[in-house]
Amino acid sequence: MNIASVRRPIVPPTPPRAPDDMSFLGRLAAIRQNVIATWGQRAYEEDVIKGRFFFRNSFILNRPDAIRHILLSNYENYTRTPAGFRMLRPVVGNGLLTSEGRSWTFQRRTLAPAFTPKATADLVPHMTAVLDETIAKLDARTGESLDLREIMQRMTLEIAGRTMFSFGMDRHGATLRNFVMEYGERLARPYFLDMLLPLSWPSPKDFERARFRTRWTEFVAMLIAERRAAGKKDGAPPRDLFDLMDEARDPVTGKGFSDAELVDEVATMILAGHETTAIALFWALYLLALDPETQEEVASETRDVHLDNMADINRQKFTRAVIDETMRLYPSAFLIARAAREKDNAAGLEIGKGDVILIAPWLLHRHEKLWDQPNAFIPKRFMSAEAPDRFAYLPFGAGPRVCIGAPFAQAESVLALARLIGAFRVELVDTEPVIPLGVVTTQPERSPMFRITRR
Ligand code: HEM
Repeated sequence: MNIASVRRPIVPPTPPRAPDDMSFLGRLAAIRQNVIATWGQRAYEEDVIKGRFFFRNSFILNRPDAIRHILLSNYENYTRTPAGFRMLRPVVGNGLLTSEGRSWTFQRRTLAPAFTPKATADLVPHMTAVLDETIAKLDARTGESLDLREIMQRMTLEIAGRTMFSFGMDRHGATLRNFVMEYGERLARPYFLDMLLPLSWPSPKDFERARFRTRWTEFVAMLIAERRAAGKKDGAPPRDLFDLMDEARDPVTGKGFSDAELVDEVATMILAGHETTAIALFWALYLLALDPETQEEVASETRDVHLDNMADINRQKFTRAVIDETMRLYPSAFLIARAAREKDNAAGLEIGKGDVILIAPWLLHRHEKLWDQPNAFIPKRFMSAEAPDRFAYLPFGAGPRVCIGAPFAQAESVLALARLIGAFRVELVDTEPVIPLGVVTTQPERSPMFRITRR
């Protein structure tokens, strides 16, 4: 079936494809500016692209069977790259995202009950409270030019803070945002030596990152102390993620988290969760502003629905398809990189010890062989009976290290998009194309101005 047989779908902007003969130095410079712009047409057509990067083999993998092997069947053979650890550890320490081996198994097992769809359902009231406030504030600004990217960042940070600690981020939100921006702008981009040096040798930027880490962990510990001082709500179900994480015990050993471990887990959940979700919501609003007919379909689905509980969120099938399609075209995590601990054979592909594997949701989700009209915005493709291959659609990764916050992020983004589009008609004031940049996440190169009107 032609999934877009009714009307011509929109094709949103992307960076131009890189020339296939891009020099090594050109590629290196471009990696710091926009990784997506370093990929040429071949990367969207071929199954595997083998190259060399800093004396190691590298493979861009677009084959679902080989990806399945790396992320699932033999996942223990693959670790993050030294550059990946360097970028992440200063902000998330040895929390779930960056831990390995037995430490990771303990953390994942202990945290899992706090992130099930059922546990997420108990957090929905925090999300709806923030949405009510955001909509009330936006109501006072209809007709103005609005930076919806910044508004989404503030909103998801507020949701992250409230679901974590029950208190609003009005006092600490600005400091938290400053930390996130400082790190993103100065320390989260890989420099030449970050990619070249083994982890045991600090790179020049690592010293600056270590100083950042000291200030950042003190700040998170202060938030935790404030939350502890507020006490628990006895008898009632746990009122926030912090309670759940503080009370969590490993089902095998009965062990819980130490204070230092809790700092890393709290930092991980706030940082891994809020910017990724803000980016997804920004792109969804951008796409719906480019495609008013689809926007109207989202709005009509929300009519006469309260949208204040998980059952209502789960009924928003079309809005969910819009979110799924947004994360196909603009996956917040555009690249999942791994290094092989030992040599391996991944579905017929010979991989050597130390080789780098690049699994790029950005490429995979736009691959010519895997998708019909790969660059077009067609939410209904996610409503057809035929689900995409599990290893061809990876906005949240896959296998044992799949995003633990996926049910949370999906509930939050469907709820937020449905409530916002149900309340307002969204248009772009600034009609210049917005190009995505692959730097840490898939960010817009600039924040376009939007205008909203009450429905
Ligand atoms: C749209 C929003 C989100 C996107 C696109 C996203 C994407 C991802 C991806 C692709 C991974 C796998 C990385 C890899 O395999 O290297 C991941 C892992 C992870 N995510 Fe998310 N994420 C989102 C929201 C969240 C939220 C809301 C939380 C927490 C509240 C969260 C916490 C984590 C953690 C802790 C991991 C590491 C899991 C592990 O290694 O066991 N994420 N995420």
